[in-house]
Amino acid sequence: MADKSFKYIIVGGGVAAGYAAREFAKQGVKPGELAIISKEAELLDSQGFMCALEVEERNSFPSGMQRKARDPFFNMVSELAPPNSSFSLLGPLSYIVHAPDVQSLVCRGEGLESHIGISLILSTYIVKADLASKTLVSAAGESFKYEKLVIATGSTVLKLSDFGVQGADSKNIFYLREINDADKIVEALKANKNAKVVVVGGGYIGLELTAVLRMNNIEVDMVYPEPWCMPRLFTEGIAAFYEGYYKKKGVNMIRGTTAVKAVKLKDGRVLEADIVVVGVGAIPLTSLFEGQVETDKRGIKTDAFFKTSAPDVYAVGDVATFPMKMYNDVRRVEHVDHSRKSAEQAVKAIYASEQGKSIDEYDYLPYFYSRAFDLSWQFYGDNKGETVLFGDTDPNSATHKFGQYWIKDGKIVGAFLESGTPEENKALAKVAKVQPAATLDQLAQEGIGFASKI
Ligand code: FDA
Ligand code: NAD
Repeated sequence: MADKSFKYIIVGGGVAAGYAAREFAKQGVKPGELAIISKEAELLDSQGFMCALEVEERNSFPSGMQRKARDPFFNMVSELAPPNSSFSLLGPLSYIVHAPDVQSLVCRGEGLESHIGISLILSTYIVKADLASKTLVSAAGESFKYEKLVIATGSTVLKLSDFGVQGADSKNIFYLREINDADKIVEALKANKNAKVVVVGGGYIGLELTAVLRMNNIEVDMVYPEPWCMPRLFTEGIAAFYEGYYKKKGVNMIRGTTAVKAVKLKDGRVLEADIVVVGVGAIPLTSLFEGQVETDKRGIKTDAFFKTSAPDVYAVGDVATFPMKMYNDVRRVEHVDHSRKSAEQAVKAIYASEQGKSIDEYDYLPYFYSRAFDLSWQFYGDNKGETVLFGDTDPNSATHKFGQYWIKDGKIVGAFLESGTPEENKALAKVAKVQPAATLDQLAQEGIGFASKI
């Protein structure tokens, strides 16, 4: 097969790819210069998968989640659509654009191709990357040549078998990463309306998916090995609120143990389950580039412009291990905010280098968030040092508004808030960025008021 050649190729079709494409469009990429190659059939935002489940099951779309499901391609579509258009959901992850002068345009990314001239090479699994000859090869044997490559392959799920669990390939065990995964879970739930579900894992997927299931009145047990949920961010004090709240919502949370054989637990208990959904972490997809780029912390090492050690190759999103300027450290981040910003930074850097210009180094303030049931929290900064909890941490209260600060060397380095207003969340970001001096007593007394003064 003849090679296809492009000036720029983005490999991957997720969040970072979407934002990279958007930035390419902003920078004035010419028709035919850019291709996005993804193994999936659609351009996706994996965040949307959770929403896909909600939509399928409840036929409703909570307002807070609308943008999530449509992002980032929603942004492109909205930029392309005529003024006064509105959008509504047409099944999971495809959108119908209602516009006054266009009858209806079903968009699964086609807009990119016809409006901007970005080639979408979907359902194409890249199985070989030769960075020396600047060539990618697909499973079907097609070759793609590039001048500049943006790696945006994201992560894949860690499996129970990675932890040595037997029976982990049983057909009632599901994972959640791609749209197909969500479809399979929805199908299994539809086939068994009274299914009893066990969710394995107490991180983001575990907590968010459990909430979605309970909102659909599905019986759920949650099991995780740590003494409290979301241990990579939550302290025991924060987790106590969420565990209490989930209990109130009818979730049975089993802590401090894990699955050793399907849903047989390490402590000997056996859980009854029709369906098991596993969220035990993610691992960046870097194997295509092994031995060809420097790696660190399981990711592809980049500089502050997301340039890797290989010439003309950039890595963005979940796969990038980059300098975290604020903390004089190198880190890898598995969240959308960084995926978007790293993608934009890389494309800006590509154009700047072509024009002999320079841009500022990436200076990222970590930002994580999650929504479940009617709860919504945000966190900015670093979760290091001493902590102080403030506000109403009673899971049974009507307001449940509380937060936490992290203090290191007498300065605030991290801030968490549940149920904050947009202004308070802005203040949270600012306080984590500015890092003012404060004492634990002062913060316990002033709570979010302290951040709001900064
Ligand atoms: P992403 O995973 O988005 O995209 C990678 C793309 O590369 C995929 O299209 C994949 O198919 C493709 N690909 C990989 N290898 C390939 C190959 N060899 N050939 C061709 N294509 C290949 N974060 C957050 O901040 N808030 C949130 O609410 C959520 N919610 C959420 C829900 C669920 C269910 C998941 C799984 C994850 C989240 N996340 C999240 C995490 C967030 O989605 C994640 O950090 C970003 O999607 C990372 O963006 P990337 O573009 O790096 O990878
Ligand atoms: P995670 O890292 O958030 O949580 C993994 C959890 O797995 C741990 O907290 C632990 O409780 C559990 N675990 C580990 N080993 C286990 C074992 N042997 N048995 C049982 N439990 C075990 O990962 P995740 O929840 O799977 O999420 C996957 C990816 O998706 C991550 O990159 C995450 O950041 C991302 N994500 C983010 C959001 C968000 O930002 N709101 C939402 C969903 C997913």
